[in-house]
Amino acid sequence: MRARLGMHTLTDGRGLLFGGDYNPEQWPEEVWAEDVELMRAAGVNLVTVGVFSWARIEPEPGARDFGWLDRVLDLLGSAGIAVDLATPTASPPPWLGHRWPETLPVDESGHRLWYGSRNQFCPSSPVYRERALAIVTDLADRYAGHPALALWHVGNEYGQICHCDESAAAFRTWLQDRHGDLDALNEAWGTTFWSQRYSDWAEIIPPRHAPYMINPTQRLDWQRFCSDALLAHYQAERDILRERTPGTPVTTNFMGLFKPVDYWSWAGEEDIVSNDWYPDPADPLSPARAALTHDLMRGLGQGRPWLLMEQATNGVNWRPHNLPKPPGQFRLESLQAVARGADGLCYFQWRASRFGAERFHAAMVPHAGPDTRLHAEVRAHGQELRKLAPVAGEPVPAQVAMVFDWASWWALEERGRPSDRLNAPDQLLSYYLPFWERGVSVDLVPPSAELGGYPLVVVPNLYLLSDQDAAALTAYVHGGGVLMVGPFSGIVDPRAHVRTGRFPAPLREVLGASGEEWLPAPEDRPVRCRWSGGAEFAAHTWTELIAAEGAEAVAEFAEGDLAGHPAVLRHRAGQGVAWYVATMPEPVALGALAGRMLADAGVRGVLPDLPPGVEAVRRGDVLFLLNHGTATVRMPIPHAADDLLTGSPVTDHVTLTPRAVAALRPRVQPHFGDPLA
Ligand code: GAL
Repeated sequence: MRARLGMHTLTDGRGLLFGGDYNPEQWPEEVWAEDVELMRAAGVNLVTVGVFSWARIEPEPGARDFGWLDRVLDLLGSAGIAVDLATPTASPPPWLGHRWPETLPVDESGHRLWYGSRNQFCPSSPVYRERALAIVTDLADRYAGHPALALWHVGNEYGQICHCDESAAAFRTWLQDRHGDLDALNEAWGTTFWSQRYSDWAEIIPPRHAPYMINPTQRLDWQRFCSDALLAHYQAERDILRERTPGTPVTTNFMGLFKPVDYWSWAGEEDIVSNDWYPDPADPLSPARAALTHDLMRGLGQGRPWLLMEQATNGVNWRPHNLPKPPGQFRLESLQAVARGADGLCYFQWRASRFGAERFHAAMVPHAGPDTRLHAEVRAHGQELRKLAPVAGEPVPAQVAMVFDWASWWALEERGRPSDRLNAPDQLLSYYLPFWERGVSVDLVPPSAELGGYPLVVVPNLYLLSDQDAAALTAYVHGGGVLMVGPFSGIVDPRAHVRTGRFPAPLREVLGASGEEWLPAPEDRPVRCRWSGGAEFAAHTWTELIAAEGAEAVAEFAEGDLAGHPAVLRHRAGQGVAWYVATMPEPVALGALAGRMLADAGVRGVLPDLPPGVEAVRRGDVLFLLNHGTATVRMPIPHAADDLLTGSPVTDHVTLTPRAVAALRPRVQPHFGDPLA
């Protein structure tokens, strides 16, 4: 049996990891020595090499040039810098597409996408597969046992989609596995609608550009297939690496809430979960969005530490208008990831490129060189991370689980629904926000997760819900859990067929309520609602005609045709409590609701009354306080601690200027956030 490989393989003896993508092939060799010297001064201990090196290693079909890469790995290894070695298969050389155009991806309209950029491959192309696996095999054989090799980085940001004939053939095979025969497929896809019945497998194609809306189940299966097809390619590369270097962990870098790939099905296939995260400095919600994304990464790894593979020290170059990051910002973002379970903080990229599409993207060493404000911050950050070595490997305890599902996301966001203003990631974020603001840690989990250990489970939206998962949610409540369900959940089955009867059919009993109409609200004005105590709040976008069947109406609609009908319901079921929200309440109302559910569940944040913009999260026994706001705050703390970042004792309060962070380790038990603290 393979020993469990994880972050500890990398952090044991190194502490937290710090580094970035290193692309030495863009520079003459004289620069490499300076790079390594600067890396050492900055405390860099891990770099990702070779992500886009296919053409350099294999300048023409079958040739191999590893000499330069040998020298890079030797240089890094002798400086004690570990290498996250990439398989270069994200960006095939021009010769592949030129000689084998069938390896190039085809869009929905049948247009081939050409080389000249990157990512131009069809995941189902046998020629691409053969060539990619050949170079991966040689790379693994070459560097197996190299002392610098610490981690494998397979491909880059998987997400390619191709609609070509080879993809169509692979789709048919996948469908045969899923549905068995054509009758079952016709049934699942509901092809009696619009005369779509298939009489031969050969007629089945990917959802290509068509005159009008495409069959939603065809599209749902296609999205499942696309994620699986990429996964199959990743697995093929990974298997080669595992066979040749059994002691070296394998990862591939995720992209947060990235729609095309179902990361729940991928995460178990890697040793270490890693993510690329590029918050938009113009987005006021980006601190909460980041926290949510980091929690997702922790959830994908089932609580294990994860690696922040890419982030930016300053502005990126791929948004239309790239706001810079003020001094202290990338450090704050990086420490936020540590607080939420990251054991490694890496950047794209080490040295800013002089040429190519990313020549204006921030880096750890900017064009202006190392003698700059930015590089000084990089160095200081790398050095201070050593002080946080005690948190490496530590868990982030959470008592709230939030359920998210890719298949439900795909199904929900099909065309032809009551409103496309209700979407899965926005619902997730709006339900996550009040917990984040209260310093309540949340685990992101899939619908199939074991929920028993969580006092509170939040389901912002599960439009697609299987009978089995609905039964598990019901049993969770009966067993004493507190469940919160957001609108338009439990509407379709895994084939995306609407469940008939009053909605949400599979949760009707546990929610003690059911509905009959979805009523999207006019966009230009809020919907007035009233708590049972009489105070009003606003909701927007979505309402439902719903009736209590045992549940108590905690709030009702206060105007229009729905006036007097329930808007929020609470139901005691078995030993537990189930809440249902039949609209989209404004943030302050969702906050009030979250407060009541936390009270029902007996859960509280790590510190009471956090000032706006201050994030509080506990990792191991260290309480991280991060000031994302624009004001200096003075916060009382319940017991004496040491700030790991300053090395100073803290007795009764901390003062945090904007973008400041404290990492407080209590002098004595109990921990921050423990019920008795
Ligand atoms: C990532 C990618 C990197 C680089 C970076 C720029 O998506 O993996 O190679 O392109 O974005 O922000």
